[in-house]
Amino acid sequence: MSEFVHVDLKTCNYTIHIGSGLLHKAGELLLPVLASRRVVVISDEIVASLYLTQLQNSLDLAGLSYSTIVIPPGEGSKSLEQLTLVLDQLLNYKIDRNTTVIALGGGVIGDLAGFAAAIALRGLPFIQVPTTLLALVDSSIGGKTGINSWHGKNMIGSFHQPRAVLADVSVLDTLPLRHLRSGYAEMVKYSAIANPAFFSWLEQHGTAVLNGDDKVQVEAIRVSCLCKAAIVSADEYELGQRALLNLGHTFGHALEAVTEFSDVLLHGEAVAIGYGACLRLISKT
Ligand code: GLY
Repeated sequence: MSEFVHVDLKTCNYTIHIGSGLLHKAGELLLPVLASRRVVVISDEIVASLYLTQLQNSLDLAGLSYSTIVIPPGEGSKSLEQLTLVLDQLLNYKIDRNTTVIALGGGVIGDLAGFAAAIALRGLPFIQVPTTLLALVDSSIGGKTGINSWHGKNMIGSFHQPRAVLADVSVLDTLPLRHLRSGYAEMVKYSAIANPAFFSWLEQHGTAVLNGDDKVQVEAIRVSCLCKAAIVSADEYELGQRALLNLGHTFGHALEAVTEFSDVLLHGEAVAIGYGACLRLISKT
């Protein structure tokens, strides 16, 4: 069983496929949006050890030719140095403008691979296959790509929309609880800024989301994606209401910067602390 959320923008539109076991069918599902049969998969060492073979098998089944780039995991990889290495590898693979980049991983991989796709040969098509809850509900949707700088988080980047997002909840089975909670923080954000009924729903079903109930996870992700798709469709380049998606993020990014973008604080954890700080600030003004 799959659910679909459509992201309709002025310049393009794409589908978020949400379901369980989608990775096995990735090649077949993604074929219609590929510009050619050639793809490059970018992933990190941890995700690659868990899911790269599954993805490759499905690409083989669909008759696609692929190369892979595997980088170290963690926020530290969202750097100019790592971007240069990825671009070099991409160009070594003799890509052309119809080669699609597939980002297989969490927010770090999606942001870095998406940005590499945005600037290699002045722009390659790309697809998001998120593997963390945070990436499933937030960072894989809406086209924000980029890397960090010593000036701050995500200070170098571009808007580059994916051609599709494959949100397979099965990948959450191997995700540590801490990372599930980090993604859950973004769901709470959607409920707070756009959907009070979803807030009540999460109060009832939040434990099932974290405990790995597939059906409940699909529903929570579907509603989160609907909230994000509506906001991004109305304001793709964050000139107005998309800034709502940054609730708590100014505090959160500052906390991530002082902890040197390390695993001391996951993004969702920093943002969750940021919500609290933000609400306190509002209540004092
Ligand atoms: N994660 C915030 C945004 O996509 O705008």
